Amino acid sequence: MKEMKRVPVILDTDPGVDDFFAIVLMGAFDDIIDFRGITAMGGNNKTAVTSRNALDILHLIHRDDVPVYYGADSFLKEPFGAPVADHHGHNGIGDITIPHTDRTVEEIKAWDAIAREAERCDGNLVLVTIAPLTNIALTLQKYPGVKEKISKIVMMGGSTGKGNITPYAEANIGHDPYAADVVFASGIPVDMVGLNATIQAPVHRSLFDPLSEHTEKAVREALQGLIDFRKGEPMHDALAVSTLIDDSIITWKNFEGNVETQDAEKRGKVWLQETEEYKGLRCAMSVNLEKYHAVIAEMLKRYPEGKAYE
Ligand code: RIB
Ligand code: CA
Repeated sequence: MKEMKRVPVILDTDPGVDDFFAIVLMGAFDDIIDFRGITAMGGNNKTAVTSRNALDILHLIHRDDVPVYYGADSFLKEPFGAPVADHHGHNGIGDITIPHTDRTVEEIKAWDAIAREAERCDGNLVLVTIAPLTNIALTLQKYPGVKEKISKIVMMGGSTGKGNITPYAEANIGHDPYAADVVFASGIPVDMVGLNATIQAPVHRSLFDPLSEHTEKAVREALQGLIDFRKGEPMHDALAVSTLIDDSIITWKNFEGNVETQDAEKRGKVWLQETEEYKGLRCAMSVNLEKYHAVIAEMLKRYPEGKAYE
């Protein structure tokens, strides 16, 4: 079988219950994903909390090799809101407890790291964004040329249907619509995995438990804790990441899109116009659950009990 080239990826994230699940997924496929780093962002909680959560989650899955870079401490034009405790717990990760690592974030900031990795990967870097897009917008504002060096953005964000923080806005767009506007206007190709797709893919214990029988106890119990906290709701961010592993999980349609920033009621809505040909934006429309569940099963197999992790 043709050796697949590993894809260099930076994950921009605000862990976050579903972000946690997505990081575990990212960390399991080192044969496919060259996990170059995490850039921490606020949204589900403040960046001081989400950056620590990212370090602890990477430690739990034996991926201390992945650097974590600290991002913005506010949205572009507004301060962060209160932690989204009802969906992510007070500690950002569903109020479960995982061991704390004494590893710290890197010296350089998120936007400098993204620009550096984009340079190093010479046009092949993929950004996976599962948080509000402030870090990405700040990168584009500080390094305008970086947009030529980013292969594509795989985004959990937006919706071809209803929003969740308002009837029009999904959280990752609606929390910082100005940043989202900068990103959508940049011309960097975007794979938008929106709420319309993620709500098709809940993750219940009845699915998870049989698949995780031979998974390392600490990882299995953490993920069970997240699923219980969210009562089987979709792990929105994990579906976006799964498309890196198997693109055929999703049926895509081509669109042109722009973000509403002016109308107070509709701010954060992604206005979409379907197009025949691909013009740099495709949106997830339907989910092949069998294939998605197969990727989750493979992820769980890759954290086997008793393995001596280097
Ligand atoms: O709307 C869902 C998105 O908002 C997910 O990324 C979740 O983690 C929250 O950040
Ligand atoms: Ca998130």
